Order: sequence, then C-alpha cells, then structure tokens
Amino acid sequence: MNPIPSSDRLVSVHSDIRGPVFVKAMEMVAAGTDVLRLNTGNPATFGFEMPDSVRTALMSNLDKAVGYCDLKGMPEARTAIHQYHLGKGITELTPDDIFIGNGVSEVVSMVMTAFLNPGDEILIPSPSYSLWTNMAYITEAKPVFYRCDESSNWYPDLEDIRSKMTKKTRALLIINPNNPTGALYPREMLEALIQVAREHELVIFSDEIYDRLVMDGLEHISTASLAPDLPVFTFNGLSKSHIVCGFRCGWMAISGPKKLKEQVIAAITKLASMRLCGNALTQLVIPSALADNESTKALISPGGRLYEQREATITALDTIPGISYVKNSAAFYLFPKLDKERFHIKDDRKFVMDLLEAKHILMVPGSGFDWPEPDHFRIVMLPKPEILHRAMLDLGDFLSTYRQD
Ligand SMILES: Cc1ncc(COP(=O)(O)O)c(C=O)c1O
Repeated sequence: MNPIPSSDRLVSVHSDIRGPVFVKAMEMVAAGTDVLRLNTGNPATFGFEMPDSVRTALMSNLDKAVGYCDLKGMPEARTAIHQYHLGKGITELTPDDIFIGNGVSEVVSMVMTAFLNPGDEILIPSPSYSLWTNMAYITEAKPVFYRCDESSNWYPDLEDIRSKMTKKTRALLIINPNNPTGALYPREMLEALIQVAREHELVIFSDEIYDRLVMDGLEHISTASLAPDLPVFTFNGLSKSHIVCGFRCGWMAISGPKKLKEQVIAAITKLASMRLCGNALTQLVIPSALADNESTKALISPGGRLYEQREATITALDTIPGISYVKNSAAFYLFPKLDKERFHIKDDRKFVMDLLEAKHILMVPGSGFDWPEPDHFRIVMLPKPEILHRAMLDLGDFLSTYRQD
C-alpha cells in the first residue's frame, strides 16, 4: 500500500504557534534544556488558577453533565450568555441564536463550514491569530488580508479594506481585542467598519474572546451592539478570562434581523446536531463564570498579574535599541517591531529559531500571524514579571550582536 496522502485542502494551513520552532523547543526540553515558552496564550501553564466560582460550579453540578445536552448548548448556559451579551448592548438576539461549542475554535469551524462556498472571500486582519485563516483554507474559501496600521495603534486600515472588496467578498472579520497586537478598537473605528460591511452587504464576524481583559480603564464595545440591522456573529468564551483553556468552552451569538440569519442558523444547526453536543461539563460553569467579573478584574488592574507583567515587559524592552512597539491595551500579547536597518532580518522564522537556540526563549514570528514583512514577533506576557523582565534583557543581549546578512 502507498503512504496515505493528505488532503490538498491542508496545503496552506499553518500554525507557527506550534510549528517547527516549537518542535525544536520540545526537542530541547526533552534533552533537559529549560525553555521559556512565550508561544501560547495558555495562562494555566504559568501558574494562573481558575477562579473558585468556576471550580465550585463544576464540582457541585457534575451529575447534570452526564448525558448529551442540547445541541446548541445547555439552556441555563445559553440564558447566561444571552444576558451577558444583552448587558453589552446586543439587542437582536435570543438564547436560540447562541451555539456553545468546544472552544471558539469549534464554533468558528462550524460557521465557516455552514456559510462559505469554495472561492468565497473573507476579509481577515493582518496580523491575526491563524485560526480564521486556516479555517478559510479548509473550507476552500479565500482569506483576503487587510492591513492593520501600526502607526495608528494597529487599527484596521479602512482604505485598504475598501480596496480589497470584490464581488466574491462575503464576510468581514474583526478581532477586537486583537491577537497578536493587543489592540482595542474605539467606537468610531467599529462604526466605520460596520459601515463598510453595511455598504457591501457583508456578514460580520467579531471575535471578542479577550473582551474581559481590557486594561487602563478602557471599555470594550461589542461590534454587534452598534449594528442591530446587520447579521453579526460574536465569538467569545472562557478560555482566557477564566483560565480554563483546557475546558474548551466557547460560543457564538448570532444577532441581527431574524429573516437575514434564519438560513445560516439552520445550516449551523445541522452541523451542531451531527456532533451531538459540545462538552457538557464545561457548560456547567458558564452561568457562575459570567457572573464573576471580579477574578478577571483583579488580573488586569494595577498590582494584578497581567497588568504588572505588561509593565515589566515594556520597561525592559524600552532599553533595547532597534525595538519599537505599540503598548497593548488588552489581552496579554505584544507585537514588537525589529528595525530593518539595524538587524537586516530577512527571515523571521530564522530569527526566532536563532533566539531559541541562543537564549532558550520561544516566541512566534510575525509571519505566523500572516504579517507580510519579516520584522515582527509576538511576545506572550504570561510568566511572572521578574521572569519576563529577565527574558527581555536576554533578548536585548541577543540582539546586541544579531544581524542576518
Ligand atoms: C483571537 C482568538 N480567537 C479564538 C481563540 C481560540 O479560543 P478557544 O480556546 O475558545 O478555542 C484564540 C486563542 O488563542 C484567540 O487568540
């Protein structure tokens, strides 16, 4: 028998977060090297613990999760999600318009499969977390990247978006707060994006998984709250805000006029019923988790871990010649820029590999987020402040002699 070939649909799928540099790092770990893993946004691996509210809800309701549950998700959990989104100003939404899945990752896969045809185009921010791009490839749709502008707080470039519009454009993806830039978009930015979608009759996908991790007294605004007249798919989950990435708990809330979303909801329902239901255990914790903002707030306020880790990172980065960055307002990512003239970096994957080998620090190159130039990388600011500070000084030491000529 010949070796089993893989599907052509996977040719362009990429994941630098767990790509070749990650594989090399794991080999180093297996050989006894201590590698600082700044590649994944997985807080539990850095000593963050789930809140008591989540632990108690899980333990005291275990028996309720033994059978398959509703294919869209447990009614109590969907009611809590509905209330949460109403509280953020989303009006055209009922609990029946909510699908809970095994992480945002699963519901993204469901909606893209249910909605896109081969050749359809979806506008995706560059840089961005690769889940969306990869799902476009798998569904044989075409990801079309629009530029986010570093000189403008990493906000989407509206002119670039307009210039990329074709007859095949079906959807506009907004990731707010963004991964990898940590940018948070103000109301005017969202209104402008919504207006583009309105003019071109696009569906909006709004990935808001970091909406509770907003710092500096700023406020997250849900895209859907500004667009009751349009179909908006809002994605959210507990992975990051409640430190339960491993629970796989995410959802999508489909708002907007009923007649516009009926067909796609029917298609998603077919897919949801094929896999029977999402993990019921994780759904048990949704009502308590969404009622508990305090534990998340404590992380992002001065003195809290996420806040202090960001401060420690940027204080050390400020001492490195040739590095610049836009301070993140949300999440725990920073996407710094490496000066072209100074470092002559032509291959950002080689840069992160060289850093790994020299300093045992694992990061993800900008190209892993579909950023077109080899001049950025992402830092995950999850280790404790002193560890991050030390790591940034090591990075500075590495860069003091690094050139790619
Ligand atoms: C922007 C964004 N969306 C979605 C996800 C996936 O979330 P989940 O754990 O709910 O699948 C991530 C994970 O890092 C992310 O950064």
